[in-house]
Amino acid sequence: MNILILSCGSRNKIVEYFKNELKTKGKVFATDCDVLAPALYEADQYFIVPRIDEDGYIDSVFSICKENDIQAVFSLIDPELNLLANYANEFENIGTIPIVSSSKVVDICYNKYKMFEFLKNNEFNTIQTYINKEQFYSDVELGLISYPVFIKPIHGSASININKVGSKEEVELLFSKYNNLIIQEYIQGVEYGADVYIDLISGEPVSMFTKKKIKMKSGETDKSVSVKDKKLFELIRYFVKLAGLRGVIDVDIFEVNGEYYISEVNPRFGGGYPHAYGSGVNFPKMLINNLQGNVNKIEIGDYNEGIYMMKYGEVYISKI
Ligand SMILES: Nc1ncnc2c1ncn2[C@@H]1O[C@H](COP(=O)(O)OP(=O)(O)O)[C@@H](O)[C@H]1O
Ligand SMILES: [Mg+2]
Repeated sequence: MNILILSCGSRNKIVEYFKNELKTKGKVFATDCDVLAPALYEADQYFIVPRIDEDGYIDSVFSICKENDIQAVFSLIDPELNLLANYANEFENIGTIPIVSSSKVVDICYNKYKMFEFLKNNEFNTIQTYINKEQFYSDVELGLISYPVFIKPIHGSASININKVGSKEEVELLFSKYNNLIIQEYIQGVEYGADVYIDLISGEPVSMFTKKKIKMKSGETDKSVSVKDKKLFELIRYFVKLAGLRGVIDVDIFEVNGEYYISEVNPRFGGGYPHAYGSGVNFPKMLINNLQGNVNKIEIGDYNEGIYMMKYGEVYISKI
C-alpha cells in the first residue's frame, strides 16, 4: 500500500509516522514545489512538482499516482484541499483515494465567513463576524459590538495578517491595504485545539484528542497540554457529523465563561498533531485500517490528560 503526501513542506513528522505504520507494507511518497522542503527527504521517494496554481499541476499528481500505484493521497496545505475534493472522481478512476472532505465542506472550512454562517445557521455558539465594514460600523453605533475587534483574512492561515484593532481609523487602514478581510468580536478566552479522525467507512468520529494551547508560534501550537472534557467531545462530535467532515481534521476552539465556541476548522493534519500522536492517538494507523477495508472502533478520549508538548527546531542536512 503506497501513500502520497502532497505539499509536505517541513512536516517531517507526518511522513515519519506513515513510514512507521506502513513499514514493509508499502511506501510513503511526498511532493513539494520547493526542492528545499525538508519533509521530501524523509519520504521513501519524492517528486518536485509545479506550484498548485500552475498549469499541469494536477496532471503531474495523477501521473505520480498512476506510476507508483498510490492507494491514497492527501495534502498538508489548505489551498490544495479544494483541488483534491474537486478532482475526487478523477482520483478514484485511477484507483487512488483522496483523503479529503467533500468540496462543499472544504469550501466552508476555507472561508472563515462561510464557517461563521454555517455555525450560526445551526445554532452553535458563534464569534460575531462581519464581512461588510459598514454593517460593522452600524452595529458599533447600535452598541451591538465594541472595540477592540479582531481583523483577519477570510482565507487566512498560519496567523498571517491577524490584528487586534482598537479604532475605526485602524479598521480603515487595514481595509485599504488588504482585500478579503473579516472583522470579529475580540475573544479573550482559553484556546483549545482538537485533532479528530472521522472514519472513512462509517462516517463516525472515532478518535479525538483535545489540547489546551499554552503558547503559539508562527500560527502553530508551540506548547500545549492534553485535556479531556465530555462536553467538548460531544460538541465536536455533533459538529463534525452535521458538517459531514471526513478523514483527518483539526479544530480551533475558544472557551469563554465555561462555554465553547468553535472558531475554525482545517480539514487536514493540523500543525499540532504530533502532540496527539505522541500521546498514543494514531491517525495513520486508523487511515491505513480504513484503506484495508476495516471500520475503526470508537476510541474517543483514549489518552491521558496532563501530557505536555514542547516543540523545538530540527535541521535536515543533505546533498540534493
Ligand atoms: N476573534 C478572535 N479574538 C481573539 N483572538 C483571535 C480571534 N480569532 C483568531 N484569534 C487568534 O488568532 C489566531 C489565528 O486565527 P485563526 O482564525 O485560527 O486563523 P489561522 O487560519 O491563521 O489559524 C488564533 O489561534 C487566535 O489566537
Ligand atoms: Mg487557526
